[in-house]
Amino acid sequence: MDFLKKYNQVLQEYLDSAVAQKEPRQLYDPIKYILSLGGKRLRPVLTLMVCDFFGTDFKKAIHAALAVELFHNFSLIHDDIMDNAPLRRGKKTVHEKWDVNTAILSGDAMLILAYRFFENYEPQMFQELARLFSETALQVCEGQQHDMDFEIRDDVTLVEYIKMIDHKTAVLLGAAMKMGAIVAGVSESDKDKIYQFGRNLGIAFQLQDDYLDVFGNPETFGKQVGGDIIANKKTFLYIMAVGMASSAQAAELEHLFSIIPKAPNHKILTVKEIFSSSGAADATRAEIEKYSALAFSLLREINIPEDKKEKLWRFGSGLMHRDA
Ligand code: IPE
Ligand code: IPE
Ligand code: MG
Ligand code: MG
Ligand code: MG
Repeated sequence: MDFLKKYNQVLQEYLDSAVAQKEPRQLYDPIKYILSLGGKRLRPVLTLMVCDFFGTDFKKAIHAALAVELFHNFSLIHDDIMDNAPLRRGKKTVHEKWDVNTAILSGDAMLILAYRFFENYEPQMFQELARLFSETALQVCEGQQHDMDFEIRDDVTLVEYIKMIDHKTAVLLGAAMKMGAIVAGVSESDKDKIYQFGRNLGIAFQLQDDYLDVFGNPETFGKQVGGDIIANKKTFLYIMAVGMASSAQAAELEHLFSIIPKAPNHKILTVKEIFSSSGAADATRAEIEKYSALAFSLLREINIPEDKKEKLWRFGSGLMHRDA
């Protein structure tokens, strides 16, 4: 997708100088480290792309884009502590490379750095962006708390799960896109529509992330495959499998998701098998399609040229066929 190059180029330039190499090293090195590992940069690209597609110079949205990417990386550093994750983007997680205390404080500093980027906007735009950002960040915390609570619950419903991923992941995609629209100064109605588009795409995106956590290729995924199974995450795959599997298999699943074995390989293999044979894997793929289709139906009503909609569509559907 060639049209993405210009956004990535500008982002990289700014990201390189976004965080000064200051003392103490123990605080700033982990920030430099996580940012140097790259990642897909999809949220800031969406901010820039939306601003561009609404007809405004996308460089005006760079500060909002950087804020979103810094916030995202902060949330990953803390998420990896909470999920006990050893790998991120194919490399050691911050709390493994340094330690948990370092990861907490470097994460905190990143969140503050993220807010600072909004200071580059005039008061009215500053207020609109910061308000959306604060609201979104709080929702992410709520989603993350539900995610943790669900690890030790055995009665999580599909509705609860969708609400949880909407908060921990989807609202940030929606906000990233809406910020591009805010900087472009479009109508409230277009801001709302692009937000809803991003949010539905975000739900599909997290469903796909959960799918890859089980069925992804360890060579390309960049995270520990099976991590959600080890941590007893109540994902769409799990909830569907409990409902669709034979009663013997459902009972086995429920048992496996109530323990944390020292050697998890057998648990991972058994769960994977049940997720496939029960039809839960196929049902998850269908749900990803459902939310993608919902997102794209919203795209139709937005005031941007058709060729730009086509590009957003290509970008979004590319995300659903990713392997990392
Ligand atoms: C990971 O996000 C966290 C989720 C919400 C699933 P990404 O998959 O966008 O992570 P990077 O930034 O590309 O590494
Ligand atoms: C992450 O969800 C959501 C946030 C970081 C807020 P996951 O825990 O599934 O993300 P990964 O799989 O670690 O990237
Ligand atoms: Mg995680
Ligand atoms: Mg998590
Ligand atoms: Mg995940």
